Amino acid sequence: MRVYCAKNYKEASTLAADLIAAQILLKPDSVLGLATGSTPIGAYQRLIAKYEAGELDFSQVKTMNLDEYRGLDGENPNGYRYFMNHQLFDHVNIKKENTNVPDGKKDPTQACGEYDAKLERTGGIDLQLLGLGHNGHIGFNEPAEEFSKTTHCVDLSESTIEANARFFDSEDEVPRQAYTMGIKNIMTAKKILLVATGEAKADALYKSLYGPITPNVPASILQLHPDLTVVAD
Ligand code: GLP
Repeated sequence: MRVYCAKNYKEASTLAADLIAAQILLKPDSVLGLATGSTPIGAYQRLIAKYEAGELDFSQVKTMNLDEYRGLDGENPNGYRYFMNHQLFDHVNIKKENTNVPDGKKDPTQACGEYDAKLERTGGIDLQLLGLGHNGHIGFNEPAEEFSKTTHCVDLSESTIEANARFFDSEDEVPRQAYTMGIKNIMTAKKILLVATGEAKADALYKSLYGPITPNVPASILQLHPDLTVVAD
């Protein structure tokens, strides 16, 4: 595990963007596993700046996002497909057909089955970007009795609903379920880049990196990944 300690969110975002850019430069047809939430926005902005400066080419890049709310379609401003289009994809030369987010409008069996099949077809994720939930969740893998394996439908915990309510008009509008890649999908990525900033994440980050490996803190399994980079402030 490599841990980079940044001064603040801005520096953490620059570091994360540099690592993602390096991945694309070294392997232009990389499969990137991408994340939503507020954490990666700064890194995405820096990637866009690199693209605009002619330093980065996304034309062969493929992406697989971690998760999507059940019931939200690609046009819904609170959905993760919409988020990715607006925060990154619309601003770089990535081919939209090479970008993948679970389909929130399909039923769980179909949406999750299709997503696992897509993951399989990509040949594996080269670099998986992760944020961290306040309860140690990654993707939408909430604290549980067991580590999950493949893409599945989850019931969101109260704390996650509360934390994500800031993106919605009210807490009532936050979907109660989501589709997420499983822990095994995430752990299969060749490299993992975990970004966590702010005091509110300090406890979850500490437990994830230095606490016991337990499904009660889903991110703790990352300690077992052979190529984990952590960027925190
Ligand atoms: C959501 C996403 C996660 C993300 C988490 C933290 O629950 N499903 O992938 O890591 O939020 O979000 P934030 O970066 O806004 O704190």
